[in-house]
Formats: sequence, C-alpha cells, structure tokens
Amino acid sequence: MAAPVGEMVWVPVLEEGVFRFDASEEARSAAGPSLSFVEPRRREEPREGGDRPAVVPACEVAGNVQKVVIKLPSGTSFYGTGEASGPLERTGKRVFTWNTDAWGFGPGTTSLYQSHPWVLAVLPDGKAFGVLADTTRRCEIDLRQECTIKFSAPSAYPIITFGPYNSPAEVMMSLSHAIGTVAMPPKWSLGYHQCRWSYDSSEKVLKVVRTFREKGIPCDVIWMDIDYMDGFRCFTFDSNRFPDPKSMADDLHSIGCKSIWMLDPGIKKEKGYFVYESGSETDVWIKKADDSPFIGEVWPGDCVFPDFTCERTRTWWASLVKDFVSNGVDGIWNDMNEPAVFKTTTKTMPESNIHRGDADIGGVQNHSYYHNVYGMLMARSTYEGMAMSNTDKRPFVLTRAGFIGSQRYAATWTGDNLSNWEHMHMSLPMVLQLGLSGQPLSGPDIGGFAGNATPKLFGRWMGVGALFPFSRGHSETGSIDHEPWSFGEECEEVCRLALLRRYRLLPHIYTLFYLSHKKGAPVAAPLFFADSQDPELRKIETSFLLGPLLICASTSPEKGAHECAHKLPKGVWSRFDFGDSHPDLPVMYLQGGAILPVGLPIKHVGEASLEDDLSLIVSLDENGKAEGVLFEDAGDGYGFTQENYLLTYYVAQVHSSVVSVKVLKTEGSWNRPKRNLNISILLGGGAMVCLLTCFLFLT
Ligand code: NOJ
Repeated sequence: MAAPVGEMVWVPVLEEGVFRFDASEEARSAAGPSLSFVEPRRREEPREGGDRPAVVPACEVAGNVQKVVIKLPSGTSFYGTGEASGPLERTGKRVFTWNTDAWGFGPGTTSLYQSHPWVLAVLPDGKAFGVLADTTRRCEIDLRQECTIKFSAPSAYPIITFGPYNSPAEVMMSLSHAIGTVAMPPKWSLGYHQCRWSYDSSEKVLKVVRTFREKGIPCDVIWMDIDYMDGFRCFTFDSNRFPDPKSMADDLHSIGCKSIWMLDPGIKKEKGYFVYESGSETDVWIKKADDSPFIGEVWPGDCVFPDFTCERTRTWWASLVKDFVSNGVDGIWNDMNEPAVFKTTTKTMPESNIHRGDADIGGVQNHSYYHNVYGMLMARSTYEGMAMSNTDKRPFVLTRAGFIGSQRYAATWTGDNLSNWEHMHMSLPMVLQLGLSGQPLSGPDIGGFAGNATPKLFGRWMGVGALFPFSRGHSETGSIDHEPWSFGEECEEVCRLALLRRYRLLPHIYTLFYLSHKKGAPVAAPLFFADSQDPELRKIETSFLLGPLLICASTSPEKGAHECAHKLPKGVWSRFDFGDSHPDLPVMYLQGGAILPVGLPIKHVGEASLEDDLSLIVSLDENGKAEGVLFEDAGDGYGFTQENYLLTYYVAQVHSSVVSVKVLKTEGSWNRPKRNLNISILLGGGAMVCLLTCFLFLT
C-alpha cells in the first residue's frame, strides 16, 4: 500500500544551506551508509544551525519503492545527472543510474558507464540548487516534466539538498564538501595522451612516441590497451610482444613519456595463474547465491571477479597493483568495470550475486545494491595500490565505470563513442555534465572510438579536445590509424597547433586543477557560469569556460569556429590567440578583469623549467582592472600539502594610461623563480600589445 504523498522529515547537515531529508524518522535510522560522501558519518550527524530548508521534497513510499518529487519555480534549468549523452540542459530527459557497457551509445541512451544520482538546478533568478539522491541502487532521475525533479529507487534513501546558493559554482563547492574533490593530478597527466586498442608491441609503442618527438607534436603519455597482456591475464605481459616492460618504460622515460596500462576486473579462471590462485586463497571473488564464485565471460574467457566491497579484496588487489607498478608503470586504466560481462542480455552479472561488503559500506548485499559502486571501489583499490608503490608520486587512475565521488580516486573518459560529428558535438556537453556532477577530470576518445575519422573530423575534434580537462586520442581495434599524423599534413598541422596551444595553457589548466582540488569547482564549466541570470546562456553547449578563458568551438562540418556567431556573456570579452588561429581550432576569449598565465610551447611537461619565460595575458575590465592566479609546485608528489608551492595572485590596473602589474599576495613557501615575464594587454578585436619583456622580481 502506498503511503500518502507527504513532506519528508529533515535535519540540517554538513554546512549552512545543506539538509538531509528522509521519508520518515524510521527510514532515517534504517538508511545504509553513504558511499558518495567522503566522510560518510557527516551525513549522519545533524549540525547546529537555525537555517531552514527553502525547498522541501515530497515523498511517496509504495512497497519498497521510494519516489521523491521536488518542484521548482518556472524558468528553472536542469543539469548534472552525471555522464549523460544528449543535450546539456536536461529538461525533458530521463536517466537511470545503472552502470552499463554502452558501446556506440546515442543521444537518447539512458544509462551509460557511470552513476551520479544528482541534479543541479539553475533557478530563474540565477541562484542555484542541488539535489543528491544518496542511493547506490538503480535510480530513475526523471526530468520530463518542466521544473520538476523526480527520483525513484527500489528502497528508502536520503535526499541531500544544497542551497539555493547565489551561483552554480557555490552549489558545486558545497557538493564537494560532501563528496570530496578531485585528487590532485600529476602535472604530466594534464598533457596529451595517445592511446589505441592496441599498440601491439614495445617497438610499435616506442615508434609512435618517437614520431611525436620527431614531428614536434606534444605528447606526455602512451597507453597500453588489453593486448599487452599474456592472453588477457591481468598483471601479466605478453612475452613476445612486451618481453621487457621495464626497459620499454625506461626508454619511454628517457624521452619524457609516461605509460599507462590497462587492468580489468575479470580475472581468468585458470589453475596455476597466480592472480587466480592467490585470489582464491584469499577468498576474494564475488559469489553466487549458492556460495560458489560467480563465473562470467570477458576477454580471457571464463572469469571470476574480485569483490571490491571487502577491504580484504581491496588490500589483495592493491598489493598486486603495487608489484605491477614496479615494472615502470606510471598510471593504470581500469576498464570494463561496470562490470561488463559478455554473452548476457543484461551486459553485467546477475543482480542476485552476493557481495560480502564490509559493514561500514553496507555489509553483505546482493549485486543490485553494489553494482553502481563496483567501478569506483575498483578504482579506489587501484589508487591505493599505486599510492603504496611510491609515496612520492600522485597515483593516476582512469576508470570507465564510476559513481558520484569517484573523482577522489580516478579520472574518467566518456566511453565508446563513434567517429562522427554527432559524437564530437556530444563530447562537449558530456564533459561539462561530468564537471557539473563532481568529476572535473574527463574527456572523450578524441577522434572517436568506433569507426574511422576523416581528416576534417579528426582535426576539429583535436582542436577542441586539446582543451578538455583530460585530453586523450583513442580508437578501436580494426579502425585505421588515428595518430595526429595519420590524416595527412594539413590535419597534422591542426593537431600540432591544437596541442601546442594546450601546452602553452598548462600553467593555467594546472592552476584550475589545484583550485578544483582545493574547492571543488569544475575545471571546464558551461558558459552560464559567467552569468547564471542570463537565460540565453543556459543551453549553449559548443562554448565552455576554463576559468576566465572562454573556448568557442564549432561542431558543424561546414563552418569553422571563426565563422560562427558566438554568444558572449555580459561584460568585456577580449578575443585572442597565440598567432595560431586556424578554421579548425576554437576561438578564444579572455574575460575582462582576468590575467591568464601562459607558458612556453613545450612538447612534454618534463621539458618545462621554473626558469622558463612566463607570459601574463591581461584583459582589463570596464574599470581598467584585472586579476589572475598561478599555482606552481613540483608537479607531482605531496610537497604542496606541506607548503612547497607558490600561489601567486597578480593584479593589473590602469593609472593615467599606464598599466601596472604587480603581485597582490602569495601563498606557499617557494621563492619566486628568476625568469622573464612577458606581459601582454589585450586591446579588443583580437589585437594585443606586448608591453614588455622584463626581468621582474615581482614580490
Ligand atoms: C572497452 C573500452 O571502452 C575501450 O576503450 C577499450 O579499447 C576496449 N574495451 C578494449 O580494452
């Protein structure tokens, strides 16, 4: 019998403006632990405070199913819902959180690889409000009715609301106080990544990287897809094609390139295979209802699957990762971790499988309870193994499956897209949407995974892809070559320009990641972040902001970005480039009032030195003022948590036609490097005056 629709009971939690709602007092005490919160107990502890919720959700419980309805004022726009295809603004859409191996997904696909039961609502007055349905279960997020959020999941769950606050950025920062922020990425991981399924031998891998170096195209990382393994057995190497991974890694390191290697969850069920044997001894496999290990088919044939919900399993896996990393591995790619299972209609394991989860994350439960967090827990364990292997390095993990909060452990990509213009277009809102769901470090397979790109598509995709937070080209086995030089000289030049642009912007991008790590704002944000009151900005999805830097792309084959009309937010926006403008590269604007730090056009991160010239590009606002920020540190390790960094706030101001630029304040214990500082003032209309090349010790 359905209980009558009623207001939910609430308590204030976390910080001002954040409230927890439950169907009833009993439901509150019966709720399972949070898997999204970085500190789950904070969801359980009411806070002091006299504030009251501005919006109270209504709820109906029928049998086990809890439905929640939140009505917001007319003129509200919806975002979030995690990794979702289709348009950026989500009104009219429905998502089902159920991590799914979604090869070749389309704009209407309702479940992709990750689950974020979260909606960001931008209210008509520009204020913003966020709602988290804190459940790991399959959850319907129904936004088909205007200004109405509906959640439905097959058990009781808390709803956490954030705000309304003055801006969407404030909601995102408040959300991050609950779910944590992105792990600070090593600086090299913000360079360009070259991947393919698969570079099939050490020789081929080295050849690809040497070609980048010979051609002067920037690249920091090369990726090893499944074929490096011996018969798809994780933690092994094919003895013919990758006979000495350590020496290959050394060769790569000697030319400034890192390597990232795939580890899948499906472990070949085979007597004598050390991972299968030790896992069986440690009793780590997911079980069927009859208590025997579940067996499902993936690449190696019959596989068993580690139960990452147990600390015992995570420790076992982490120690395998630790040993694996000693082969010179710089990062790990967790794929197929929805988990994907072949030859099943559901594409995954039976929901009746049993996980022997630790009490603190929910105890023993069937697979339907833990399905959506399986990938995140695998990434967590991989991250912990990498952290154990070298305490002086920041782990780098890429995960395909994830849950809200997985940015604490891993970056992500948007899965198996197609080499076509529609998918290139969708890659923009998908990256933005992940950023609006707590995951700032994401990007698509540039060029498209399945099918063959054309020179035009590839160049254009690289043009914008080089400015995504995570920038990696990847393509499916059987497709034609998809390296930047594979599509002829003209396309190669576009890729070179696009990537050199990224590398010049790395000081800024790295600073944005530091700020995101500290505060939780997205790195790539939709245009409406510049003015959330302007309704005309709310559906724009071919432009995005990297802080005050506005990127305007074109996803139409007929028109380059320079031929499109770009809607600009109010205020001053000064167009500029690095003398690299090209019809296939996005157009860039710097917001009036901003100072952009820019480095040299290096070919890999390790090539940079603190003494390199630094440029500050200044775009003055209506009052002749500007400010900017630059974060510098060792680029890896944890010195930055012990003051070993330099955070510089610059300000610029015009006084009787003279522009002065100075350091307003600094943080961190590092001394200012001695270097040339070039200052350029944007004059509007694309003109720029390079004021001075000076040897300044701004203090
Ligand atoms: C599926 C992944 O999505 C794709 O990126 C990868 O190349 C293949 N698995 C093979 O490992």
